Amino acid sequence: MREFSNLMGSLTAILFTIAFLNRPIKVINRRYGKQIAKTSFKASFQTLMRFLVKNHKLFGALAGASALIHGLMKFSLNGFVASGFLTLSLIMLQGVLGGYGFRKMKGKAGVWLKIHRLIPYLVFLSIFNHVVVKLFW
Ligand code: HEM
Ligand code: HEM
Repeated sequence: MREFSNLMGSLTAILFTIAFLNRPIKVINRRYGKQIAKTSFKASFQTLMRFLVKNHKLFGALAGASALIHGLMKFSLNGFVASGFLTLSLIMLQGVLGGYGFRKMKGKAGVWLKIHRLIPYLVFLSIFNHVVVKLFW
Protein backbone atom coordinates (compact mmCIF):
# COMPACT_ATOMS: atom_id res chain seq x y z
CA MET A 1 0.00 0.00 0.00
CA ARG A 2 2.70 2.45 1.06
CA GLU A 3 4.98 1.56 -1.82
CA PHE A 4 2.17 1.78 -4.35
CA SER A 5 1.06 5.16 -3.03
CA ASN A 6 4.65 6.44 -3.25
CA LEU A 7 4.85 5.15 -6.82
CA MET A 8 1.66 7.08 -7.64
CA GLY A 9 3.26 10.26 -6.26
CA SER A 10 6.36 9.88 -8.43
CA LEU A 11 4.24 8.89 -11.44
CA THR A 12 2.23 12.10 -11.00
CA ALA A 13 5.42 14.17 -11.11
CA ILE A 14 6.50 12.40 -14.33
CA LEU A 15 3.10 12.65 -16.08
CA PHE A 16 2.73 16.28 -15.05
CA THR A 17 6.15 17.12 -16.48
CA ILE A 18 5.31 15.42 -19.79
CA ALA A 19 2.05 17.44 -19.98
CA PHE A 20 4.03 20.60 -19.24
CA LEU A 21 6.50 19.93 -22.10
CA ASN A 22 3.69 21.02 -24.46
CA ARG A 23 4.99 24.56 -24.03
CA PRO A 24 8.82 24.30 -24.04
CA ILE A 25 8.76 22.08 -27.14
CA LYS A 26 6.76 24.72 -29.04
CA VAL A 27 9.04 27.51 -27.83
CA ILE A 28 12.12 25.55 -28.93
CA ASN A 29 10.46 24.97 -32.30
CA ARG A 30 9.66 28.66 -32.70
CA ARG A 31 13.16 29.81 -31.73
CA TYR A 32 15.34 27.08 -33.20
CA GLY A 33 13.03 25.32 -35.67
CA LYS A 34 14.95 26.53 -38.70
CA GLN A 35 18.31 25.43 -37.32
CA ILE A 36 16.89 22.06 -36.27
CA ALA A 37 15.40 21.58 -39.76
CA LYS A 38 18.94 21.58 -41.17
CA THR A 39 20.12 18.74 -38.94
CA SER A 40 19.50 14.99 -38.94
CA PHE A 41 17.56 15.49 -35.69
CA LYS A 42 14.71 17.10 -37.65
CA ALA A 43 12.46 14.04 -38.02
CA SER A 44 12.86 12.92 -34.39
CA PHE A 45 12.21 16.43 -33.15
CA GLN A 46 9.02 16.73 -35.16
CA THR A 47 7.81 13.30 -34.09
CA LEU A 48 8.45 14.21 -30.46
CA MET A 49 6.69 17.56 -30.81
CA ARG A 50 3.66 16.02 -32.50
CA PHE A 51 3.47 13.34 -29.79
CA LEU A 52 3.65 15.86 -26.92
CA VAL A 53 1.12 18.28 -28.43
CA LYS A 54 -1.31 15.59 -29.57
CA ASN A 55 -1.31 13.77 -26.24
CA HIS A 56 -1.20 16.84 -23.99
CA LYS A 57 -4.73 16.45 -22.64
CA LEU A 58 -4.21 12.73 -22.08
CA PHE A 59 -1.04 13.23 -20.01
CA GLY A 60 -2.70 16.10 -18.11
CA ALA A 61 -5.74 13.97 -17.29
CA LEU A 62 -3.56 11.00 -16.29
CA ALA A 63 -1.48 13.27 -14.02
CA GLY A 64 -4.72 14.45 -12.41
CA ALA A 65 -5.92 10.88 -11.91
CA SER A 66 -2.66 9.60 -10.38
CA ALA A 67 -2.46 12.70 -8.16
CA LEU A 68 -5.93 11.92 -6.83
CA ILE A 69 -5.04 8.26 -6.21
CA HIS A 70 -1.81 9.19 -4.42
CA GLY A 71 -3.53 11.94 -2.43
CA LEU A 72 -6.49 9.80 -1.35
CA MET A 73 -4.26 6.86 -0.40
CA LYS A 74 -1.84 9.04 1.58
CA PHE A 75 -4.72 10.85 3.20
CA SER A 76 -6.18 7.57 4.43
CA LEU A 77 -2.72 6.38 5.60
CA ASN A 78 -1.26 9.59 7.07
CA GLY A 79 -4.14 12.03 7.48
CA PHE A 80 -4.07 15.63 6.31
CA VAL A 81 -0.78 16.81 4.78
CA ALA A 82 -0.90 20.51 3.88
CA SER A 83 1.95 20.45 1.34
CA GLY A 84 0.32 17.53 -0.48
CA PHE A 85 -3.11 19.09 -0.33
CA LEU A 86 -1.74 22.31 -1.85
CA THR A 87 -0.05 20.38 -4.68
CA LEU A 88 -3.18 18.36 -5.37
CA SER A 89 -5.37 21.49 -5.40
CA LEU A 90 -3.07 23.21 -7.91
CA ILE A 91 -3.04 20.16 -10.20
CA MET A 92 -6.85 19.88 -10.04
CA LEU A 93 -7.18 23.59 -10.81
CA GLN A 94 -4.85 23.14 -13.78
CA GLY A 95 -6.96 20.24 -15.06
CA VAL A 96 -10.23 22.16 -14.68
CA LEU A 97 -8.73 25.20 -16.43
CA GLY A 98 -7.47 23.00 -19.27
CA GLY A 99 -10.93 21.43 -19.61
CA TYR A 100 -12.51 24.88 -19.66
CA GLY A 101 -10.05 26.17 -22.27
CA PHE A 102 -10.64 23.14 -24.43
CA ARG A 103 -14.45 23.00 -24.22
CA LYS A 104 -15.51 26.63 -23.89
CA MET A 105 -12.62 28.42 -25.57
CA LYS A 106 -11.80 25.69 -28.10
CA GLY A 107 -8.13 25.95 -27.16
CA LYS A 108 -7.87 29.60 -28.21
CA ALA A 109 -5.64 31.92 -26.19
CA GLY A 110 -7.17 33.97 -23.37
CA VAL A 111 -6.68 34.74 -19.71
CA TRP A 112 -7.30 31.07 -18.99
CA LEU A 113 -4.21 30.11 -21.05
CA LYS A 114 -2.00 32.67 -19.26
CA ILE A 115 -2.99 31.13 -15.93
CA HIS A 116 -2.74 27.61 -17.38
CA ARG A 117 0.84 28.41 -18.45
CA LEU A 118 1.73 29.84 -15.03
CA ILE A 119 0.32 27.16 -12.71
CA PRO A 120 2.88 24.46 -13.65
CA TYR A 121 5.69 26.56 -12.09
CA LEU A 122 3.69 26.80 -8.86
CA VAL A 123 3.11 23.05 -9.02
CA PHE A 124 6.84 22.33 -9.44
CA LEU A 125 7.61 24.57 -6.46
CA SER A 126 4.85 22.90 -4.48
CA ILE A 127 6.12 19.39 -5.33
CA PHE A 128 9.64 20.45 -4.33
CA ASN A 129 8.27 21.66 -1.02
CA HIS A 130 6.16 18.52 -0.52
CA VAL A 131 8.93 16.03 -1.30
CA VAL A 132 12.28 17.72 -0.57
CA VAL A 133 12.39 20.81 1.64
CA LYS A 134 9.13 20.27 3.53
CA LEU A 135 9.04 23.95 4.50
CA PHE A 136 5.58 23.16 5.70
CA TRP A 137 4.15 19.64 5.72
C1 HEM B 1 -3.80 15.49 -0.38
C2 HEM B 1 -2.80 15.16 -1.17
C3 HEM B 1 -1.52 14.50 -0.75
C4 HEM B 1 -1.17 13.90 0.43
C5 HEM B 1 -2.01 13.72 1.69
C6 HEM B 1 0.20 13.42 0.26
C7 HEM B 1 0.94 12.75 1.23
C8 HEM B 1 2.16 12.20 1.05
C9 HEM B 1 2.88 11.44 2.03
C10 HEM B 1 2.39 11.16 3.45
C11 HEM B 1 4.03 11.04 1.47
C12 HEM B 1 5.09 10.12 2.11
C13 HEM B 1 6.26 10.89 2.58
C14 HEM B 1 7.30 10.00 3.22
O1 HEM B 1 7.10 8.78 3.26
O2 HEM B 1 8.32 10.57 3.63
C15 HEM B 1 4.08 11.56 0.13
C16 HEM B 1 5.12 11.37 -0.76
C17 HEM B 1 5.17 11.87 -2.04
N1 HEM B 1 4.21 12.66 -2.64
FE1 HEM B 1 2.44 13.23 -1.82
N2 HEM B 1 0.64 13.74 -0.99
C18 HEM B 1 -0.37 14.40 -1.64
C19 HEM B 1 -0.34 14.89 -2.92
C20 HEM B 1 0.73 14.78 -3.79
C21 HEM B 1 0.72 15.27 -5.14
C22 HEM B 1 -0.43 15.99 -5.83
C23 HEM B 1 1.93 14.95 -5.69
C24 HEM B 1 2.29 15.32 -7.09
C25 HEM B 1 3.44 15.13 -7.67
C26 HEM B 1 2.69 14.23 -4.69
C27 HEM B 1 3.97 13.70 -4.85
C28 HEM B 1 4.64 12.94 -3.93
C29 HEM B 1 5.93 12.30 -4.16
C30 HEM B 1 6.74 12.36 -5.46
C31 HEM B 1 6.25 11.64 -2.98
C32 HEM B 1 7.53 10.82 -2.71
C33 HEM B 1 7.29 9.38 -3.05
C34 HEM B 1 8.46 8.48 -2.65
O3 HEM B 1 8.98 8.63 -1.55
O4 HEM B 1 8.80 7.61 -3.46
N3 HEM B 1 1.93 14.16 -3.54
N4 HEM B 1 2.93 12.26 -0.12
C1 HEM C 1 -2.48 18.84 -15.42
C2 HEM C 1 -1.45 18.97 -16.21
C3 HEM C 1 -1.37 20.00 -17.32
C4 HEM C 1 -0.30 20.79 -17.57
C5 HEM C 1 1.02 20.80 -16.83
C6 HEM C 1 -0.65 21.64 -18.70
C7 HEM C 1 0.20 22.59 -19.25
C8 HEM C 1 -0.09 23.33 -20.37
C9 HEM C 1 0.77 24.33 -20.95
C10 HEM C 1 2.15 24.72 -20.40
C11 HEM C 1 0.14 24.82 -22.05
C12 HEM C 1 0.65 25.93 -22.97
C13 HEM C 1 1.07 25.41 -24.30
C14 HEM C 1 1.31 26.53 -25.26
O1 HEM C 1 1.78 27.57 -24.84
O2 HEM C 1 1.03 26.35 -26.45
C15 HEM C 1 -1.12 24.15 -22.19
C16 HEM C 1 -2.05 24.37 -23.20
C17 HEM C 1 -3.26 23.78 -23.27
N1 HEM C 1 -3.78 22.84 -22.40
FE1 HEM C 1 -2.86 22.11 -20.76
N2 HEM C 1 -1.93 21.33 -19.12
C18 HEM C 1 -2.41 20.32 -18.30
C19 HEM C 1 -3.64 19.72 -18.40
C20 HEM C 1 -4.57 19.97 -19.38
C21 HEM C 1 -5.85 19.30 -19.51
C22 HEM C 1 -6.34 18.19 -18.57
C23 HEM C 1 -6.46 19.83 -20.59
C24 HEM C 1 -7.80 19.55 -21.21
C25 HEM C 1 -8.64 18.63 -20.90
C26 HEM C 1 -5.58 20.83 -21.16
C27 HEM C 1 -5.87 21.59 -22.28
C28 HEM C 1 -5.03 22.50 -22.84
C29 HEM C 1 -5.34 23.24 -24.06
C30 HEM C 1 -6.63 23.15 -24.86
C31 HEM C 1 -4.23 24.05 -24.32
C32 HEM C 1 -4.05 25.08 -25.46
C33 HEM C 1 -3.82 24.49 -26.78
C34 HEM C 1 -2.76 23.44 -26.80
O3 HEM C 1 -1.57 23.73 -26.64
O4 HEM C 1 -3.13 22.27 -26.94
N3 HEM C 1 -4.44 20.89 -20.39
N4 HEM C 1 -1.25 23.24 -21.14
